Amino acid sequence: MITVLGASGNTGGRVVRRLREAGVPVRAVGRDTARLADAVARGAEPAVGDITDPAFLTEAMRGAEAAYVLMPLDLAPGYRAQQEQVGTAIATALAAAGVPRVVALSSLGADVARGTGFLETLHEQEQRLAGLDARVTVLRPGLFFESFLPALAPMQATGVHHDTVDPDVVLPMVATADVGDVAAGALLDPASSGVREVLGAEDLTMPEAIARLGGVLGTPLRYERAPDDVMRTVLVEAGLPADLVEEQLAMHAAFNRGTVQSRAGRSPATTSPTTLEQWAATLVSSARP
Ligand SMILES: NC(=O)c1ccc[n+]([C@@H]2O[C@H](COP(=O)([O-])OP(=O)(O)OC[C@H]3O[C@@H](n4cnc5c(N)ncnc54)[C@H](OP(=O)(O)O)[C@@H]3O)[C@@H](O)[C@H]2O)c1
Repeated sequence: MITVLGASGNTGGRVVRRLREAGVPVRAVGRDTARLADAVARGAEPAVGDITDPAFLTEAMRGAEAAYVLMPLDLAPGYRAQQEQVGTAIATALAAAGVPRVVALSSLGADVARGTGFLETLHEQEQRLAGLDARVTVLRPGLFFESFLPALAPMQATGVHHDTVDPDVVLPMVATADVGDVAAGALLDPASSGVREVLGAEDLTMPEAIARLGGVLGTPLRYERAPDDVMRTVLVEAGLPADLVEEQLAMHAAFNRGTVQSRAGRSPATTSPTTLEQWAATLVSSARP
């Protein structure tokens, strides 16, 4: 049996699907029974609870031959404290239940300890997991295509996407489905361990990504680099907690400095199949009545 955290989410949902297709028993963890319905329909056993609770999480890990773990983003104030609470609970539960193999979702840039905003907590989590008596595979994906979703409606309304990544910075961008597929592959491989970068089909600049999104969505779209101060005000006024805004600005500054880089380099082993166009096409088809 394999325990999957975030089983109702992007990567975890895909992991459940792939593991069940392989005939492996799955324990699907999430806070809401209704959101776990797809996992349950695929034959997974639901474990409903909060992963900040080490006692619940230890029971969810009990008896697992492997676990998929991730650090969900909570859009409430107090990012650092929340991440420390979740990260510690995950490491504590894995150790208490003696799970022998772990596949952990991290990020490109998590090799760097400081100056990367959001990504610093993933560096800390990699350190915690390295202390386990377990075979650990760390996945370091690039920027998720899904991270454009919250901005999709405003950019379609105005034709412009504003953000604080410099327009000449190239970033590996990846579909979460591809990340889930790599995670499932690692969970099904008893010999898997070490760091695996998941870089998507290609590296893209923000202007390229936004223009291509527009091409598929049928609306001309362009990217404009917003000054940090302007973006800070816009995001806070939109309701994002101030500390999360600072984490994001710091992460983008790290992108702009070239701190967040692939260390393995692009190769067949780090490249995954789904292009931005293919991903965007699924948005269009799922929006059709
Ligand atoms: N965005 C990017 O570009 C990027 C790039 C690299 C790495 N990452 C990493 O990827 C993570 C997100 O992964 P994802 O997209 O697969 O997740 P996601 O779709 O955001 O889903 C989060 C999952 O975690 C569950 N969850 C959240 N809080 C929980 C809690 N307290 N207790 C139990 N379950 C909880 C949610 O389920 P319920 O809400 O149903 O409980 C959901 O299944 C980020 O947090 C970051 O660490 C992101």
